Amino acid sequence: MEVIPEINTFVDLIQKSVEEGTFVKLTLSKVTERELGLKNVYIRLIELKGTAHLSFQSRYDTRDEVKNHTVNDALDILRLWLGERFLNADLLSTTGDHTLLFNRKRRVRLLHKKASTQVVPPRIHDRDKQRTIKSEGNHYLQALGITNTEGKVVKSGQRKFKQINKYIEIVNNYIQDTFSKKTLNVLDVGSGKGYLTFALYDYLKNTLNKSPQIAGIELRQNLVDFTNALARECKFEGLQFVAKDINDFEVKDLDVLIALHACDIATDIAIAKGIQSKAELIIVAPCCHKQIRKAMQPKSELTPVLEHGILLERQAELITDGIRALLLEAHGYKTKVFEFISTEHTSKNLMIVGTKDRVNPDALQQIDAIKSAYGIESHYLETLMQ
Ligand SMILES: C[S@@+](CC[C@H](N)C(=O)[O-])C[C@H]1O[C@@H](n2cnc3c(N)ncnc32)[C@H](O)[C@@H]1O
Repeated sequence: MEVIPEINTFVDLIQKSVEEGTFVKLTLSKVTERELGLKNVYIRLIELKGTAHLSFQSRYDTRDEVKNHTVNDALDILRLWLGERFLNADLLSTTGDHTLLFNRKRRVRLLHKKASTQVVPPRIHDRDKQRTIKSEGNHYLQALGITNTEGKVVKSGQRKFKQINKYIEIVNNYIQDTFSKKTLNVLDVGSGKGYLTFALYDYLKNTLNKSPQIAGIELRQNLVDFTNALARECKFEGLQFVAKDINDFEVKDLDVLIALHACDIATDIAIAKGIQSKAELIIVAPCCHKQIRKAMQPKSELTPVLEHGILLERQAELITDGIRALLLEAHGYKTKVFEFISTEHTSKNLMIVGTKDRVNPDALQQIDAIKSAYGIESHYLETLMQ
């Protein structure tokens, strides 16, 4: 096999950054065999049984797959893949950004730039991330009824604890991908008792070493009084809760918008606020789907099927969230829709993630076609965005 010196130099740079503790992340893209549905591979440094490993997260159209390799094995794999499976590789380290680039004729260039980040992410393994929010020593978890005085998760708090950790794990992946800056402005819509809001603040501040400014917006004054008092008790200075309808809340300078099970159209309002304030990252897990359910008048062969309440319900869910994703795409976001946790923990387990990208020029037309097939006059989010 022909030895390409640029590949060796690039792999040496990876090895050096791992050894010197300057490695931030490595992304492989421009996949040569797209038919497998593979989009890119995101590689991070983790600690497994006390030794450094490189964790390869392969992102397919509909799923992610994670494989961990010792550093030496990973470097061997990369030598085989670079220029063969992937035509682009970006290495970020705190000493410099390096790009290995092949054209279709496999002509190679190795480019070096000033480091775009000085933050080395923590070496957390997925399994540890389940325990990223530690049950012990977190006063807010006890105050929220998830743990007891010994820091053990109580029976009734187990599902919520699992949900919080899963949510944090997902948010963390996107945050590490999207933001290298230290200060992050986050809005949590329909924050309720603040389970997620507290956990996210704790994780951003104490694990990722960021300076989070998080606002939880919640209709119910009693919950806001409770969560604000708890934030003060925990000395979570960048965390505050506001008693307001999200509709009346003015949003500025937003990086991340989250909404976990905000009721019905509150999710639409949240997404609209996120888009309007140009948030880089929008993560919502919708709740009920009443607006579209009521608006749907299917005029197709599906009509008799949808006379069954449960099927109408599921179809309404599909249409509501499908159009939400398309509207995000129409406004310059790349979207991913997936189940964020198994249904045994919550039946409301669908998640829509939007990351700033480019506009999907066909999205609005596709929405019109769906609306016309289902006799829907308008989707609430669409109305908000007009
Ligand atoms: C199902 S709870 C979810 C709470 C929290 N996000 C969680 O997952 O634990 C939904 C919350 O959204 C709040 N909410 C609903 N509509 C809202 C609106 N328009 N503005 C602000 N909060 C709203 C409700 O009061 C409720 O507390």
